[in-house]
Amino acid sequence: MSLSRSPLTDRFGRSIEYLRLSVTDRCDMKCTYCLPKSFKGYQEPADWLTFDEIERVVGAFARLGTSRVRLTGGEPLLRRHLPQLASRISALPGIRDLSLSTNGTQLPKYAESLRAAGVTRLNISLDSLTRECVTQITGRDTLDDVMAGLDAAQAAGFDPIKLNMVVMPGVNDHEVESMTEFCINRGFILRMIETMPMGSTGLASGFTPLGPILDKLRDRFDLIPEIKEMGGGPARYWRTRDGRGQIGLITPISQHFCATCNRVRLSVDGTLYLCLGQEEKVELRPLLRAGISDSDLEQVIREGIELKPERHEFREAPTKIIRFMSQTGG
Ligand code: 5AD
Repeated sequence: MSLSRSPLTDRFGRSIEYLRLSVTDRCDMKCTYCLPKSFKGYQEPADWLTFDEIERVVGAFARLGTSRVRLTGGEPLLRRHLPQLASRISALPGIRDLSLSTNGTQLPKYAESLRAAGVTRLNISLDSLTRECVTQITGRDTLDDVMAGLDAAQAAGFDPIKLNMVVMPGVNDHEVESMTEFCINRGFILRMIETMPMGSTGLASGFTPLGPILDKLRDRFDLIPEIKEMGGGPARYWRTRDGRGQIGLITPISQHFCATCNRVRLSVDGTLYLCLGQEEKVELRPLLRAGISDSDLEQVIREGIELKPERHEFREAPTKIIRFMSQTGG
């Protein structure tokens, strides 16, 4: 068994040390930018990687230098016994950071056990503070559930807690200031995101360029640039001069950040996607179920990393990616 801890490096010299792991493609919301209301194309449970299979893949990544893992979905907390999986992953040698992206509705139930299982950081989706707007975006009246989830997350001691807001023209772009204020007051980091044209839903939602939004927020909240230590993430951060608040901007369309991409994604069916906005992939499930050895699995991952494309083409080829966000894992 090889134990090389120097990170995987792709053809463009980027170190790949971050794995985003989708544990289900189901979600209890149907956000307008993500899944169509009528979506029927879910993976069969028989094709979901088991916890044992997931642990094997993450173990292989960890031996190849991956130190950070994020659990995503769909809605990851809909996968039964997720805290058990989280415990297994955080216990793997080499894994130093385990985080979770969630829509928040299940946090009152799971926040404590996730924290105990070694999850330290949370990203929670919240696009609006207005009941009608949340209902319109998510497909049902979920605001109270998410608010209860935010309370539970803070009570359980997650730090940081980031709120993801997909900013859409004519939908919630008028709420960037109220969301910023809410997050400053509550101690959350607000991350505004330009909608990616993933599938017909992402494309139809449109995106709000965040440059002008930042100008507005900078004046109103006296923001200064924040240099982040744990780099590699796509967000550019700003903080209030008094240090109370922090916001991040994720601008895949107006200013892509592919040159520093450090991540790959594993979907629930065991497909390794090398880029959110391209088709390159490696199907790991058939290999796992055919009894591949640990060293061969590591070799397949190394070769997969060679396929990582230089960048997405969300702006140049917005109709290219027909996968919905919840299918790859956000
Ligand atoms: N564009 C940008 N962000 C998206 N998300 C889901 N779909 C899209 C899209 N088309 C976000 C969710 C969640 C995160 C994991 O991805 O809001 O916060």
